[in-house]
Amino acid sequence: MPGNEPAAALTRLPLLNVLGCGKAGRTIARLLHERGLCVLGDVANRSLASAASAVRFLGAGTPRDGIGGMACASLWLVATSDDAIAPAAQALAASGRLCQGDVVFHLSGATASAALAPCAEAGAAVASVHPVKNFSDPQASVRTFEGTWCGCEGDPAALAWLQPAFERLGARLFAIDARYKALYHGGGAFACNFIPVLMELAMRCEERAGIPRAVALDMFEPIARETLDAVFRQGIAPALAGPVSRGDAGTVRRHLAAMGEWDPQVARVYAQLGDVAVDIVRSLGRVDDDRLEATRAAMRSVAALPLSKDISS
Ligand SMILES: NC(=O)c1ccc[n+]([C@@H]2O[C@H](COP(=O)([O-])OP(=O)(O)OC[C@H]3O[C@@H](n4cnc5c(N)ncnc54)[C@H](OP(=O)(O)O)[C@@H]3O)[C@@H](O)[C@H]2O)c1
Repeated sequence: MPGNEPAAALTRLPLLNVLGCGKAGRTIARLLHERGLCVLGDVANRSLASAASAVRFLGAGTPRDGIGGMACASLWLVATSDDAIAPAAQALAASGRLCQGDVVFHLSGATASAALAPCAEAGAAVASVHPVKNFSDPQASVRTFEGTWCGCEGDPAALAWLQPAFERLGARLFAIDARYKALYHGGGAFACNFIPVLMELAMRCEERAGIPRAVALDMFEPIARETLDAVFRQGIAPALAGPVSRGDAGTVRRHLAAMGEWDPQVARVYAQLGDVAVDIVRSLGRVDDDRLEATRAAMRSVAALPLSKDISS
């Protein structure tokens, strides 16, 4: 199928230019280079000093002072912050550096490859490969990248080179519908980003109850780890313990009252999450509907409180 052939410019070892080489960009560029999948060309960040630092990390490439100083390349990684992808793509297309069949890709989970549309209009094949990974420590990320799930979407001609290349890095690839990327990426906030937020709310409750934060963190470590282990071992619904899983509406009402007197915002978060917990427990069919509905009513009476009831701290 012609559409699934790699872009013409990538049939030989491609030259890779990196526009935006921070934590994620330097990890991916270094891996592609170390595995012999590309030759590193020019690297540009907002400042030349930052590009020079990226090149030191990469062990190859040439730092440049913006797109104006970059040469042509058949492969372009645009790994700026998400909001800068579209303007960078516009600037790259306007620079005249792109040739028919070049490949331009980004790494964003929340942004579709369509953000690279100006490059496509200039003749490039565009795509996005989103690694579901925290790149906060690029040195460690290079070592631990193998096994990383990567959501892919974009032009078949670009993916025909990118997918085998990422497979060579040990990535586990899956297709993501570009229309749902914001939702897909938002789901990651629940799976990852909000776990520390939930722990913070737990700490505030314990501190309010007179238990020092450090003690509370130690106290919850085993049960938090056991719960997450249970989610992956047994599944989400069986891992859900606590009053909602027993249909203990009275305990839920006492939790909500105690939180509501102190910080209605905490009570409302509890109630919103608890409402979802009722759905999960119902799916197991082990608790009477009457008790579950009483629990849900308690949650909803608090979840609906107006924002003006918040105590600002
Ligand atoms: N970090 C993660 O865990 C992670 C995970 C998956 C995907 N991603 C994706 O990877 C991409 C990069 O994220 P990141 O965390 O690596 O960001 P980052 O560490 O902040 O790096 C962004 C880099 O882009 C450069 N930059 C910003 N605007 C630019 C512009 N207009 N022209 C040239 N360079 C520009 C910055 O230059 P300066 O250094 O000069 O400021 C910086 O080096 C994003 O699309 C993100 O969604 C990140």
